[in-house]
Amino acid sequence: MTAADYQSFADAWESRATIRTRPRRVLENDDKLIYPLSRQPLVLSETFLRECPQLRDFALVQTLYKFINDVVIFETEIVDKTARSIAKNRFAVTFPFACRYDAMTVVVDEDYHALVAMDFMQQTVAMTGITPIDLPDEIELSRAIPAAVDLAPAHLRSAVELICVAIAENTVTGDVAAFAKDDTVKHSIKGLMADHLLDEGRHSGFWSRMVRIYWHTASEDDRQCIAQILPVFIGHYLTNDIQKSFDFHLIDALQISDATRQVLKSEVSGLAFPINRHHPLVANIVRFFRSSSLLDSPCVQSALSDYLI
Ligand SMILES: [Fe+2]
Ligand SMILES: [Fe+2]
Repeated sequence: MTAADYQSFADAWESRATIRTRPRRVLENDDKLIYPLSRQPLVLSETFLRECPQLRDFALVQTLYKFINDVVIFETEIVDKTARSIAKNRFAVTFPFACRYDAMTVVVDEDYHALVAMDFMQQTVAMTGITPIDLPDEIELSRAIPAAVDLAPAHLRSAVELICVAIAENTVTGDVAAFAKDDTVKHSIKGLMADHLLDEGRHSGFWSRMVRIYWHTASEDDRQCIAQILPVFIGHYLTNDIQKSFDFHLIDALQISDATRQVLKSEVSGLAFPINRHHPLVANIVRFFRSSSLLDSPCVQSALSDYLI
């Protein structure tokens, strides 16, 4: 695929973008869960169920706040930044106007997703009376992208940034999908996830096409250089440090004995996924490497051999 083949999705955006089509969602005060149990394994641990099952909803609400906080950081600090610089033609790689227009729809969608997430934060605080514990001011990508970009020579920095954001936009989609299907969760929360997913389907295709266009023009030397950086990015992206430190904070906020606190901390420490092909996000990442054509290059195949099955 080359820049000349690019077809804008502007019509689909006009008719389907959630900012164009969705009324405000209101959190309902019913017995359903505010966050899926499967996405906060702490509350499923034997110790938690024995010592403090009454704190389950508190822990789930705090985990929802962490999720919302992550969404706001991802949308406003990561995706917005890269999409905006493409839209404004400030990117080192030059894209045709149709790409820049579509990039601007991504900026609008992402800032809207951040707004909707913040709305759910305020609605949840108002309904539950539970205020957020200290939330992280970074997500994994806040470290992974600069780490990757720093390894690139000056002329490849924006290409590396583009590929990193494209990877991230293609992995979160599958992650949010699991959420939207869970019937134990409140209707409005599932709706929030489904809305987001609808927009992200358009975005993941957009980022894959941008990377395809770029990769088509990249020299063999540049491709080899970028291939060496990819595993460094993935290693940082898949670390569990920020989640673990949030879980520790959450455990500190629970009204339980010190002994129980220690046991819960050691249990959540054992929950991290390995950073290799068995990590649950790796299938999505590899799918992106195929759809963006990167995996057609032998240098990418060998650099990613740890992640390929
Ligand atoms: Fe988004
Ligand atoms: Fe997105």
